[in-house]
Amino acid sequence: MIIAPSILSANFAYLGDDIKEVTSSGAQWIHIDVMDGVFVPNITIGPLVVKAIRDITDIYLDCHLMISQPERYIKAFADAGAGGITVHAEATNHLHRCLYMIREHGIKAGVALNPSTSLDTIEYCLDMLDLILIMSVNPGFGGQVFIDAVIPKIIKAKEMIIGRNILLEVDGGVDTSNIRTLHDAGIDVFVAGFSIFGSPDPGGAVREMLKIKGSGLDI
Ligand code: DX5
Ligand code: ZN
Repeated sequence: MIIAPSILSANFAYLGDDIKEVTSSGAQWIHIDVMDGVFVPNITIGPLVVKAIRDITDIYLDCHLMISQPERYIKAFADAGAGGITVHAEATNHLHRCLYMIREHGIKAGVALNPSTSLDTIEYCLDMLDLILIMSVNPGFGGQVFIDAVIPKIIKAKEMIIGRNILLEVDGGVDTSNIRTLHDAGIDVFVAGFSIFGSPDPGGAVREMLKIKGSGLDI
């Protein structure tokens, strides 16, 4: 299992320190939420910040683009040091081409699906995918409540990718109360923002999440 702290809930004035704290506590990825104020009602991070993070750590940078027509910015984020780029199926008219463009940069290609988007959307793109991100909140903000209706969707997605080398990631409202259920449903990568950086002890929050079945102590 991979814990990917979302820096959306970090302290941006001390971003480097926050990142070092969670990576030294066992987080294997850093999740970076890119928002354009169009696809979602919020504006966040651009390639400059990704490059600045890249300069202080070798950790895998998981770039989640919540932007319209993401194909316009794939090169910029890849050049900035993204380890993988995930685009929303709802944000592009040409998902297959977009995934191809990401892979051309030699990095992981991911697709994200909003809670209401069917898995059918990606049925014919599976060969182009390294990762599927199931949104468990409506994208745009950190600290929202987990939508339980996505659990059956996760189970279905896991069945869909049997025999393929595709990671299954969940994003939104993940904390120690639901991480075991998500693990059992088939999730490989757990994004968590508020439950880690909203905690007085972000490093301890990562360690608690890593304690689930299969990785040592049970919670
Ligand atoms: C939401 C973002 C998430 C967000 C998750 O649009 O994609 O990555 O940071 O935050 P929490 O874990 O606080 O729901
Ligand atoms: Zn995200």
